[in-house]
Amino acid sequence: MTTPVLGIIGGTGLTQLSNLEVSRRQVVRTPYGDASGALTFGEILGQPVIFLARHGYGHTIVPHQVNYRANLWALHAEGVRTIVSIASVGGIARDLGPGVLAVPHQLIDYTWGRKSTFFEGPDQPVTHIDFTHPYTLSLREKILDAARRAGETVVPEGVYAVTQGPRLETAAEIDRLERDGATMVGMTGMPEAALARELELEYAAIAIVANHAAGRGNSRNGISLDDIKAVMHEAVGRARTILEALVSAHGGS
Ligand code: HPA
Repeated sequence: MTTPVLGIIGGTGLTQLSNLEVSRRQVVRTPYGDASGALTFGEILGQPVIFLARHGYGHTIVPHQVNYRANLWALHAEGVRTIVSIASVGGIARDLGPGVLAVPHQLIDYTWGRKSTFFEGPDQPVTHIDFTHPYTLSLREKILDAARRAGETVVPEGVYAVTQGPRLETAAEIDRLERDGATMVGMTGMPEAALARELELEYAAIAIVANHAAGRGNSRNGISLDDIKAVMHEAVGRARTILEALVSAHGGS
C-alpha cells in the first residue's frame, strides 16, 4: 500500500512550487505515453506532495497537446488520490477581475479532439462515469476552508468554460459563453477533471483570474499578455498560501 499523497498540477505561472521542499524528480512511464514532465516529489510543511507542471517545466506544451491521460495516470500510479489543479482563467463574471482566485463548482466542455477517456480500446468495457458534479464537493470545501484560515479571499464557486485554445476567444464567443452560464474561461479544465473521475480521484481546482475575458473590462480592445504575467506572478503566491493551509490541515487526503 502506498500512502496517500496530495497531487498538485500547476498551470500557467506555476511551473514550480517555491514552498515545496523537493526530494527527487522521477519520470513515470505510463501506457498512454509521457506525462508533461518528471513528477516532482517533495514536502510542504512536512506533508508529502507530488507536483507536476501541466505545460511542462519550460511551459512548452499547448493546452490541446497536454497528455492529460499520462499526467493523471502517472500521479495515480505514485499513490496520489487527491489532486488540486491550479489553472489560470479569463474572468467573464463581474466579480472575477484580474488577480481574483475562485474555486469552480461546474464546468462546460467546449474542447474537441482530445483523448478524454481511459475506457477505450478492445479490452475496455464501455463505462459512463457520473459527472453531475465535476469537482469533488468535499475537496472544494477543504480548499474553501483552507482559504478562510489563510485569510485569503476566494470566490467560492464558478462555472468554468473550457475552450480549445491556444488562441484566446473573440468577444462574441465570450458573450456566448456567458449566455451558456459560464463565469470564467480557460483551456485546460477538460479532459483533466473527467479523467480524474475515471480514476476515482478527488479533484478540485483553484482558478486564478489572469485577465478580463475578451471584450470585457480592460480587455475591451484586446488582452495584454504582459498584464497577464504581472497578475499571475502576484496571484500565484496567494494560491500557494492556500495550498499550505490545505496540507497543514489535511495532509495528502
Ligand atoms: N481565455 C482562455 N484561457 C485563459 C484566459 C482567457 O481569457 N486567460 C487565461 N487563460
